[in-house]
Amino acid sequence: MLGLGAVSRIARELRRDVQAVHERDPAARGVSDVEVVVLWPGVQALLSHRVAHVLHEAGVPVVPRTLAFAARALTGIEIHPAAKVGEGFFIDHGAGVVVGETAEIGRDVTLYQGVTLGGTGFATGKRHPTIEDNVTIGSGAKLLGPITIGHGAKVGANTVVIHDVPANSTVVGNPGHPVRIDGKRPEGPDADWVHLPDPIADAISGLASRIGALEAAVAELSGREHKGAEVRPIRSARGPNPAGG
Ligand SMILES: CC(C)(COP(=O)(O)OP(=O)(O)OC[C@H]1O[C@@H](n2cnc3c(N)ncnc32)[C@H](O)[C@@H]1OP(=O)(O)O)[C@@H](O)C(=O)NCCC(=O)NCCS
Repeated sequence: MLGLGAVSRIARELRRDVQAVHERDPAARGVSDVEVVVLWPGVQALLSHRVAHVLHEAGVPVVPRTLAFAARALTGIEIHPAAKVGEGFFIDHGAGVVVGETAEIGRDVTLYQGVTLGGTGFATGKRHPTIEDNVTIGSGAKLLGPITIGHGAKVGANTVVIHDVPANSTVVGNPGHPVRIDGKRPEGPDADWVHLPDPIADAISGLASRIGALEAAVAELSGREHKGAEVRPIRSARGPNPAGG
């Protein structure tokens, strides 16, 4: 179950997680390793997850979920025992972080408080994000669905990401869109990810104005008053089926 190999793997991962705190948390300057293990909730949640994950992979019932539950109660960080987490993972502050069952996290990834790596609905199978190496995800960001966040990308605080993110880019906003790729502002006709052309909405609004003109002509011929039709703005509904995961 938890053999010598697994214990030494967990010890190695714990050392890398503590090292990540020293590298990436300015508040950890001059703080000892023991203090980091005892007082950094992100490190405790990860240690608990690493043990729970080994037990989950070994098919042990109940215990992995119990460990995840206890870690959540203690730290406010919820990581499903099946989630795959690479070395050097750092969760700063931690409260409100949720990492779903099929999430995969590469090496040297940083998350701040309130980040969700979640699904988009009730789909089963792979339904949570894959985060490649060296990604940073700002506080409150929601990353939903089986999307891939490319190597070295940065996700801004409070961003909502539902599409793949290119490597070495910075994405912000809702919906999340790149504002930097390889350090440069995206240029050209595809630079605006928010105001995309919508040919169906354009066709419907063309038809609506022709129907309006016809109604006005009929009203004039019949001598009746033309009030004009009630026109409601078309709500844009883009992206994958929300229950499609
Ligand atoms: C996204 C982030 C990583 C970008 O940092 P950066 O690489 O230095 O990039 P910049 O600050 O130059 O920002 C790039 C653009 O995105 C905008 N932007 C940055 N962060 C944003 C955010 N969270 N939401 C919306 N827009 C944002 C900037 O205004 C700038 O816009 P411009 O292209 O019109 O000038 C950073 O702003 C961020 O959100 N970090 C998370 C930090 C965090 O969660 N801290 C919690 C500590 S407790």
